[in-house]
Amino acid sequence: SIPPLSATSADTATTTTTTSTATNLPLRPIPGSYGIPFYQPLKDRFEYFYGPGGRDEYFKSRVHKYQSTVFRANMPPGPFISNNPNVVVLLDAKSFPTLFDVSKVEKKDLFTGTYMPSTELTGGHRVLSYLDPSEPKHGPLKNMVFFMLKSSIRRVLPEFETTYNELFDGLESELAQKGKALFNDAGEQAAFRFLGRAYLETNPEETKIGKDGPKLISTWVLFNLGPLLRLGLPWFVEEPLLHTFRLPPALIKKNYNKLYEFFESFSSPIIKHAESLGISKEEAVHNILFTICFNTFGGIKILFPNTLKWIGRAGTNLHTQLAAEIRGAIKNHGGKVTMAAMEQMPLMKSVVYESLRIEPPVALQYGKAKRDLTIESHDAIFKVKEGEMLFGYQPFATKDPKVFDRPEEFVPDRFVGAGEELLKYVTWSNGPETEGPTVGNKQCAGKDFVVLITRLFVVELFRRYDSFDIEVAASPLGAKVTLTSLKRARL
Ligand code: HEM
Repeated sequence: SIPPLSATSADTATTTTTTSTATNLPLRPIPGSYGIPFYQPLKDRFEYFYGPGGRDEYFKSRVHKYQSTVFRANMPPGPFISNNPNVVVLLDAKSFPTLFDVSKVEKKDLFTGTYMPSTELTGGHRVLSYLDPSEPKHGPLKNMVFFMLKSSIRRVLPEFETTYNELFDGLESELAQKGKALFNDAGEQAAFRFLGRAYLETNPEETKIGKDGPKLISTWVLFNLGPLLRLGLPWFVEEPLLHTFRLPPALIKKNYNKLYEFFESFSSPIIKHAESLGISKEEAVHNILFTICFNTFGGIKILFPNTLKWIGRAGTNLHTQLAAEIRGAIKNHGGKVTMAAMEQMPLMKSVVYESLRIEPPVALQYGKAKRDLTIESHDAIFKVKEGEMLFGYQPFATKDPKVFDRPEEFVPDRFVGAGEELLKYVTWSNGPETEGPTVGNKQCAGKDFVVLITRLFVVELFRRYDSFDIEVAASPLGAKVTLTSLKRARL
């Protein structure tokens, strides 16, 4: 009784109507349709979360059906959380960068997509991630984050080494006792401890917040991202609980206030700098909290287990090469991990980029067309209208077979030597790896910091261990990684 949702054959018939002189690509109407309002978005949401193959298959099957990497589709959550789930999907390395061009797209209130979490979850403020660069507060707030990063530079290397050696000590003794050790929970404790030490010169575990940081953050993140997450509960629990209505922000207020008090107490130099930029203390603290807990902690929570997973799966051969390269370079630099030493670790650097390429930690990106635009895929040119929501699924752009050989494979030395040419297609930071964040763009403020600490993670790992074994399971954000062996370095 449901009419066909998209006229695939009709679309194909109208494919080659006009030809652009500049590129010789045909102008093609964007294939796909949004279907019957309310009904189709719900159906699509089910397919996206619970269909065989999940969200990858949601996109892959449509690429196949429409024979196009650009098409129309609905994105979750849809009713009743987002008013309009209709998007133009961009799934190749050529069309995807439209989302980075802030002269073409507006990035206001769409950090999480077609819905925006209640500002009650951020102290009543629209925090930096939700601001378009054209808004007056975007510049000062991004400068505040740059200041925080710059002030922490001298602490990053020593505090990372201290904290991650504590982490590995703990994992080793758990492994000795139980025969295996879950990486994620201890890894998150370490991440929050490291961030406190590096950004705020404070070990949070020695303050009132104790060891509660990661748990407080994770429940608050769930209130923000619930509409987009799959927790692994039965659908009849997840649908009403997470995807149909918002979780009431009041329930998380007490947790949030504990985090707020912590950042209010220990961020004085950053707050002072923010005030000099015309930002109120209160707005500064909510933004510091968001940047450290959501942007940074949230990112590491996904990225580190994923990196461990890809390197673990790659096997002993890679481990041996990494250990030799890393230890050799450290030895050449007086036994110390320095920036210069890391520059002599091309395989390590490539492995980190490859991990960010094969599984970009933030997969979903949005932007609203500021005006009528044309967008190019490898195969065609498409017209979108002012106000249309564009959506890119980052993993398909960074695994575009027209750009990367063996795109689905983890190729450790992909970015060594001439391979560096390909770094412009590594776009996990909401921009090319060859470019940087500014107050005028929406590229991740922490781009270089993230690359640096992920390098340090791999370096500390192979300073201590010759090799390791893992078991991997799914989790709502990233992978659940259990270590089943850690083979200490035989020096
Ligand atoms: C924005 C990813 C860590 C601060 C973004 C965006 C992405 C991203 C994809 C763009 C979102 C969008 O507008 O569509 C990540 C990942 C991280 C990470 C994967 C870690 C693994 C950090 C760190 C900081 C940071 C360490 C700073 C300390 C920000 C800020 C923005 C942002 C402030 C908004 C930029 C703006 O409004 O111009 N990040 N990020 N992030 N990130 Fe990160």
